[in-house]
Amino acid sequence: MNLILMGLPGAGKGTQAERIEAAYPIAHISTGDMFRAAMAAGTELGLKAKSYMDAGALVPDEVTNGIVKDRLAEPDTDAGYMLDGFPRTIAQAEALEQITTDLNKPVDAVINIAVAPDVLVDRLSGRYICKTCGATYHKLYNPTKVEGTCDRCGGHEFFQREDDKPETVKNRLKVNIEMNTPLLDFYQQRKLLFNVNGDQDIDLVFAEIQNILATVAK
Ligand code: AP5
Ligand code: MG
Ligand code: ZN
Repeated sequence: MNLILMGLPGAGKGTQAERIEAAYPIAHISTGDMFRAAMAAGTELGLKAKSYMDAGALVPDEVTNGIVKDRLAEPDTDAGYMLDGFPRTIAQAEALEQITTDLNKPVDAVINIAVAPDVLVDRLSGRYICKTCGATYHKLYNPTKVEGTCDRCGGHEFFQREDDKPETVKNRLKVNIEMNTPLLDFYQQRKLLFNVNGDQDIDLVFAEIQNILATVAK
């Protein structure tokens, strides 16, 4: 099963990806996570991405398309993959179509987690992430069960993302809102698009996604 998870910053792509990953053995590919890992490791890719990410802007298509192409060629995606945060432009969507055709790993469904932009700032400013395993939490909407201890790995160290500062969030939202409608149209035309209501409890969002996956699973 090959999926794309779409949604504005803070819509819940990463949160739902964690749940999908636990239920279906498919590779989770987040371009944002890949850029952050490259930045932390100080690689050339990380250096290229840093100025764009710090500004809440999109990393240039040729850089992003390249890392997705290489990642989808890896064998763990043969059993299925889930793209999170890619594509974000029509040029990326077109490049992806070419890549997945060449690799014979076509996209089966695009799940759009729809949330009105006005709740997203709140979600991003309250987000915290486990330093050890990357699990995502929210101080109000999705806290750890035991304060200060990660539910998934028991870790005690958490961090907030650099780009979750209010100034950066504003630009991330602006850039992504602009690109959103053309991308949804692109996948609607290909009859791959499924919308879920992302403005409800995390478990209810996941239940909607599971209903969709039951119709596309293979
Ligand atoms: P990326 O890391 O992908 O960030 P993003 O798209 O801005 O999305 P987020 O990860 O912030 O949100 P999410 O939807 O995963 O939400 P989450 O589940 O964490 O990209 C970062 C940057 O990398 C980009 O700005 C760009 O510079 C670059 N980049 C990445 N991909 C690129 C590409 N393709 N092209 C060019 N550049 C690219 O949830 C958010 C919070 O809400 C959490 O605290 C969570 O607990 C909470 N929450 C989740 N669901 C719910 C719910 N239903 N109710 C209440 N709270 C909820
Ligand atoms: Mg994310
Ligand atoms: Zn953890």
